[in-house]
Amino acid sequence: MNYRHGYHAGNFADVLKHVVLVELLRLLTAKDKKLFVLDTHAGVGGYDLTDGRAARTREAEAGIARLMALPRAGMPVAVARYLAAVAAYDRKFGRGEGLRHYPGSPRLVRAGLRPGDRFVACELHPQDVLALKREFAGDRAVDVRQADGWHALKALLPPVERRGLALIDPPFEAADEFDRLARALRQALRRFATGCYAIWYPIKDDEAVEAFTASLAGLKTLVLELRLKAAPAGKLAACGVAVINPPWTFQETMAEALPWLAAALDATPALTSRLSSASSPTA
Ligand SMILES: C[S@@+](CC[C@H](N)C(=O)[O-])C[C@H]1O[C@@H](n2cnc3c(N)ncnc32)[C@H](O)[C@@H]1O
Repeated sequence: MNYRHGYHAGNFADVLKHVVLVELLRLLTAKDKKLFVLDTHAGVGGYDLTDGRAARTREAEAGIARLMALPRAGMPVAVARYLAAVAAYDRKFGRGEGLRHYPGSPRLVRAGLRPGDRFVACELHPQDVLALKREFAGDRAVDVRQADGWHALKALLPPVERRGLALIDPPFEAADEFDRLARALRQALRRFATGCYAIWYPIKDDEAVEAFTASLAGLKTLVLELRLKAAPAGKLAACGVAVINPPWTFQETMAEALPWLAAALDATPALTSRLSSASSPTA
């Protein structure tokens, strides 16, 4: 396990994934019914962008930093809400010059939870899980586990709440990660067919991505992708998030947010909808 998310915190890929996550949480908590959230690959929870790893790559400069510098007027609501969540996390550390602390997915989930909702965050890296435990020390609303996220998809689904969101954000270190992802997803859907699943993936090998998205045929899916027009050599240039069983109105907000994000991040957007009926089982 060599992957450390600190090198990539707040980059364009995080921006896309986290805009999606914040909006899904907002919609899924709008109903007066308890929600279960599973973050299968959680990372450390929050990142100091002036720290060694983030400062070395400076990936956040072409991601979150660009958005933070833009006027909020006229911004799509989903993006504005995401930026508000990022700013709220940064403010916890006191006011400084510009954005310094960027929330990882567990922090964004935590900010969206209501009392009574349940949240399990899995992280396997021994140092990162310690950092994640420190991040949420004393917070009983967050159940941090040193656990294999793939196994958690089997072990923790279906949730007793019968309403759930799983964020699946693996590091894609292994050559067969797409196969493992497709397998794990099939198993999870067999156990919890009505759950909402948000799956982040890198676009490096078009064939592997096409095979993965083809494996989602027959499911209610919204796929959002961004391809940077000029990515630095050797850096990730494109990524996507596939959302299975998205809540009602998610497509509408994302159809507004994605082209705006693409323009702000100098990228090309693609949105593919395979939502066969208007209502969602999770709504
Ligand atoms: C892309 S990062 C997660 C970023 C985080 N979801 C966010 O958005 O802030 C992937 C994380 O998965 C962890 N990881 C790798 N394999 C894992 C596994 N099988 N189960 C749980 N975590 C794993 C890595 O250590 C890494 O921290």
